[in-house]
Amino acid sequence: MSIEKEINSIREKFSEDLGRVVTSKDLEELKVRYLGKKGSVSALMISLKDAEDAQKPILGKSINLLKNEIALAIHELMEKINSAELDQKLQKEKIDVTLPGKRRRLGRLHPVSQMLYKVVDVLIDMGFSVQLGPDVDSDFYNFEALNFPKDHPARDMQDTFYITHDLLLRTQTSNVQVRVMEKNPLPIRMVAPGRCFRNETVSARSHIFFHQIEGIYIDKNVTFADLLATLDELWRRLFEKEIKTRYRPSYFPFVEPGIEADILCTQCHGGGCRLCKFSGWLEVIGAGMIHPEVLKAGGIDPEQYQGYAFGLGIERLTLLRYGISDIRRFTENDNRFLAQF
Ligand code: DAH
Repeated sequence: MSIEKEINSIREKFSEDLGRVVTSKDLEELKVRYLGKKGSVSALMISLKDAEDAQKPILGKSINLLKNEIALAIHELMEKINSAELDQKLQKEKIDVTLPGKRRRLGRLHPVSQMLYKVVDVLIDMGFSVQLGPDVDSDFYNFEALNFPKDHPARDMQDTFYITHDLLLRTQTSNVQVRVMEKNPLPIRMVAPGRCFRNETVSARSHIFFHQIEGIYIDKNVTFADLLATLDELWRRLFEKEIKTRYRPSYFPFVEPGIEADILCTQCHGGGCRLCKFSGWLEVIGAGMIHPEVLKAGGIDPEQYQGYAFGLGIERLTLLRYGISDIRRFTENDNRFLAQF
């Protein structure tokens, strides 16, 4: 075929092919096929070398003309397709801003966390600082340093999850006491909130994990009266009213003397119910004067310094505050329950 014929045939073929283009991708492919390095127009240019010399400029011009026609046609169609595709996209992604939105429900703190923060806030207001201890701890800090020797029967009061012979899940936030004594200058007045674990049967009143807040105050001339005054003030601020309490002597190896405080059961108001084991009272705190052996374990001279300590059960306090009768509610993750707080 002569070059001239070839030019015309390509021109015709192109306009046919162009008519079949639908998407911008089709058009890109078409462009490569005609104008690319190995496209039909370049092939024409190459074949020019076989033409007669006199014909070369004329044919060259014709090929260039074809090339420009094709380029222009492709460009025009490209603009059309692009704007159509954009329209389509905009149509598809159109947002009706007049539609009412979906209401997002706000999350909230778990009631136990709310109570924990509240108690910590009150205690901070009363001059305590906050320190944290580890959930997984050594037998030393959880027991031994707190005056529970290895075979002491008091260890039976706290059913312990042991990880190794020496490592355990702390049974009490009291594990921070000696750590804090070791690390801080005197006087010390701090609280330590945290999670505790005990290998107990889960019931309405006890769970295998729960939260406590430990408090200690160590200084010269700290007395038992300071402890009672602090606790009374704590109840007043926490419940925002006078709460009926009673203090009983009790035993914890790391305090002497030791006490427990009960609050009049908020569920039955003393009448007796399942929550208070029909006693009318709920135990919320253990406390006492820090045992000299514990001060010594923390490197403090008991001849010069005294201190008090207390440990509060947060779940129990939350039950009391809201009149909830079963501690298991807290871990069931039932939104109907949790959304009430
Ligand atoms: N750690 C004790 C418990 O879990 C509670 C306790 C009692 C803490 C007396 C104290 C304390 O700091 O002085 O049963």
